[in-house]
Amino acid sequence: MVWNYQAALITLGITALSAQAATTNYTSTVDPTKITIPDIEQTKSHDPAAQCKYYQPPFTVNPKDWPTSWEIATSNGMNSSAEFTALYNSIDWTKAPNIQPKGMTAAGGLNLQSYDTVNDPDCWWSASQCTKPKKADINPDIVQCLEPNTWGLTYDDGPNCSHNAFYDYLEQNNQKASMFYIGSNVMGWPYGAMRGLKDGHHLAGHTWSHKLMTTLTNQEVLAELYYTTKAIKFVTGVTPLHWRPAQGDLDDRVRWIATQLNLTAILWNLDTDDWAANVVAGVTPETVQQNYKNFIQMGSNGTFNTVGNIVLSHEINNMTMDFAMQNYPEIKKNYKHVVDVATCMNMTNPYVEKSITYPTFEQQVNQNASTATGSGVSPAASGSSSMGTQTTVNGALFIAALFGVAASLF
Ligand SMILES: *[C@@H]1O[C@H](CO)[C@@H](O)[C@H](O)[C@H]1NC(C)=O
Ligand SMILES: *[C@@H]1O[C@H](CO)[C@@H](O)[C@H](O)[C@H]1NC(C)=O
Ligand SMILES: *[C@@H]1O[C@H](CO)[C@@H](O)[C@H](O)[C@H]1NC(C)=O
Ligand SMILES: *[C@@H]1O[C@H](CO)[C@@H](O)[C@H](O)[C@H]1NC(C)=O
Ligand SMILES: *[C@@H]1O[C@H](CO)[C@@H](O)[C@H](O)[C@H]1NC(C)=O
Ligand SMILES: *[C@@H]1O[C@H](CO)[C@@H](O)[C@H](O)[C@H]1NC(C)=O
Ligand SMILES: *[C@@H]1O[C@H](CO)[C@@H](O)[C@H](O)[C@H]1NC(C)=O
Ligand SMILES: *[C@@H]1O[C@H](CO)[C@@H](O)[C@H](O)[C@H]1NC(C)=O
Ligand SMILES: [Zn+2]
Repeated sequence: MVWNYQAALITLGITALSAQAATTNYTSTVDPTKITIPDIEQTKSHDPAAQCKYYQPPFTVNPKDWPTSWEIATSNGMNSSAEFTALYNSIDWTKAPNIQPKGMTAAGGLNLQSYDTVNDPDCWWSASQCTKPKKADINPDIVQCLEPNTWGLTYDDGPNCSHNAFYDYLEQNNQKASMFYIGSNVMGWPYGAMRGLKDGHHLAGHTWSHKLMTTLTNQEVLAELYYTTKAIKFVTGVTPLHWRPAQGDLDDRVRWIATQLNLTAILWNLDTDDWAANVVAGVTPETVQQNYKNFIQMGSNGTFNTVGNIVLSHEINNMTMDFAMQNYPEIKKNYKHVVDVATCMNMTNPYVEKSITYPTFEQQVNQNASTATGSGVSPAASGSSSMGTQTTVNGALFIAALFGVAASLF
């Protein structure tokens, strides 16, 4: 099935009344309601080596259609491709907020020194944690579930080849999460992304190359968002309407560009710092475990009696997934509800395609009324998967870019 979308065209010269004036043209051979994943070691095994063996994905990838893996998405000539040029020209850039890309320090961090943090004219999250745009016609960020006593479950940085145990665990607990996928990873490990959708998780983009978005040019920001959405569409058949910037780094310029693509940012109000254990000086596994403990306690001490949270956590590696699994039973015990963000916000259509829908919060809660406050299956019990066993169609021989470094392969 080839799917083709064009936004309602607003004739050039007439004032663009809508913020959704951009022309996008994603195509996919995948029907999101009929995803099939082959019964092979890579999709079944819990042994990291077996899971990460090269596999041939079920589509033909033309390397000319994609940016270089893990490089800024304008790479490989993508900023002059016909599709990107058409998209870029469909946007009325005279309406973009007049904000310059932010600078970086020699150490590679954001340069906050020259910014007026007190007045925060750009609503720059990294400087002020601002999430309500100060400029017009920009989608505001979603930062917490509005339902009381609700844990908004989110995992960043997937998909990956070695995450079968984690997805099996979520499946066993009938637990859905919002998954923020990196475009380069989606192309590298398509079965991971296909499983994410098939399992009922809420898929959203997390940029192509995971750069600090406010430091990029308009073209680069657009390409990072566009090619990630295109990758998710290509592999799973759905076009996400949500995204999350790496390290939460966004301002009104980046938000405005995302809004042209109909994307709304989902941030968080609690950060486990799980990725940082043994990576950032001073952050240990105990630090992260204490964060989890505090956030869990907030579920039963009244902190979230009127609104819920959204918790930032990662699927990146074994350590972050183990934190998630070890803490899950206590999260379930201390919160009334643990749901993905689409569900907690009643966003039943989080994709452009309406063929895939998510339950409303009420539907989800009623379905699971008897077990809503119960505990989860313990991580140790995780083992089998009930994934389908169909075989997918053959594509041209394509060696998956494992570990995201074999850039030239696609
Ligand atoms: C943006 O989303 C709205 C609501 O789902 C939809 O009606 C509109 O067509 C979308 N526009 C684009 C450019 O995707
Ligand atoms: C594409 O990006 C490169 C590097 O940023 C730039 O030199 C070039 O002018 C851009 N091409 C177009 C068509 O904008
Ligand atoms: C849309 O996709 C078709 C088929 O791939 C292509 O021929 C066409 O140029 C694209 N249009 C735009 C605006 O990207
Ligand atoms: C709830 O627990 C959190 C984390 O331990 C703590 O910071 C907060 O002060 C507690 N709130 C109340 C009302 O006890
Ligand atoms: C993929 O997973 C492996 C093993 O868990 C991890 O070492 C690696 O960093 C992950 N790669 C990416 C790009 O997240
Ligand atoms: C992490 O590695 C340990 C030891 O190999 C294994 O027992 C555990 O299941 C792994 N966790 C995940 C989430 O894969
Ligand atoms: C979700 O929908 C239910 C039922 O209509 C409503 O009671 C609830 O307030 C909604 N929650 C949110 C966050 O929109
Ligand atoms: C929640 O509802 C679904 C769908 O009805 C059901 O399959 C599942 O077993 C329930 N979850 C739990 C944890 O009981
Ligand atoms: Zn990330």
